[in-house]
Amino acid sequence: MSNFPEKIKNLQNEILKLKEKHDFLILAHNYQVPEIQVIADFCADSLKLAEFAKKADSANNMIFAAVWFMAESGAILNPTKKVYIGNYEAFCPMARGAPEKLMKKIKTINPEIPLMMYINTTAAARAQADYICTSANALKIAKLINKPLINFAPDKNMAYYIQSKLNITVNPIPLKGCCIVHEKFDAKYIKNVKKDHPKALILAHPECRPEVQEITDFIGSTSQMFKFVVDSEFDEFIIATEIGLLQKLERETKNKKIYKAHDKPICYNMKKNTLESIKYVIEKQPEEYLVTVPEEIAEKNKVLLNEMIKNSQ
Ligand code: 13P
Ligand code: SF4
Repeated sequence: MSNFPEKIKNLQNEILKLKEKHDFLILAHNYQVPEIQVIADFCADSLKLAEFAKKADSANNMIFAAVWFMAESGAILNPTKKVYIGNYEAFCPMARGAPEKLMKKIKTINPEIPLMMYINTTAAARAQADYICTSANALKIAKLINKPLINFAPDKNMAYYIQSKLNITVNPIPLKGCCIVHEKFDAKYIKNVKKDHPKALILAHPECRPEVQEITDFIGSTSQMFKFVVDSEFDEFIIATEIGLLQKLERETKNKKIYKAHDKPICYNMKKNTLESIKYVIEKQPEEYLVTVPEEIAEKNKVLLNEMIKNSQ
């Protein structure tokens, strides 16, 4: 915590004391700002956050510095804990692309086609899925389904990723669903960065468009990209994902050079979590930040989440 301004350090120390006093664990996604990442008990991708939350038993409360669906997964997997979100307005906009009504309709029209859903959805919509996945295990899960045709919601780019790697047909539902942050990365910009840094490897999240996926050296979840850089013999990397992961890499891999693949790779929803909002939630535990899921939806999701975790090993 030594490189932060005094005001930030004071806030971090207050949160660390409040966390002990009110018996909280802080779980942060890799896209959080560095001052949150460093005070978290655990900071990772959505699969690892779900796995951590499932097993967490050293505190009675958890706060997710993340977006809703991640906190919902924690609440479903570990129902004996109280799970809070660092800002109740932190919502993944892509989740709106797969509303419950549309998913029900798809299952009614095509009951025989497996419906695989990305975890970046609401728990209510996901209850309609046959299988769920994160970016870390999408290929593994699709391989296990072992069918030549699957419906996939709601990210058209991840559908392309699965289709191109496994050589099966993956119908994107809806046709244009995507992440507004990753959709902005383009191959021309990245090729220009590569011209300036010819030795750099190109890494991308599978939410990036096909033209970006096609020029990469590695595609993976945020934690998989982190591991790839840490383990790599190479020293330079162009990374097409949100800035929070690049900042984590810069902090934790001192000898590696990390280059942005876009001018402003920022997820403003993730950034709605702030030190101030986290302090407020831990101190006051307001009802509207408490993550609850109706029982029937939670039960169906628990089965899907546990199956996904088991199949990711
Ligand atoms: P990861 O599971 O790879 O961290 O991705 C979550 C996400 O929202 C990417 O935009
Ligand atoms: Fe959702 Fe995209 Fe933000 Fe990830 S980066 S939380 S997919 S909007």
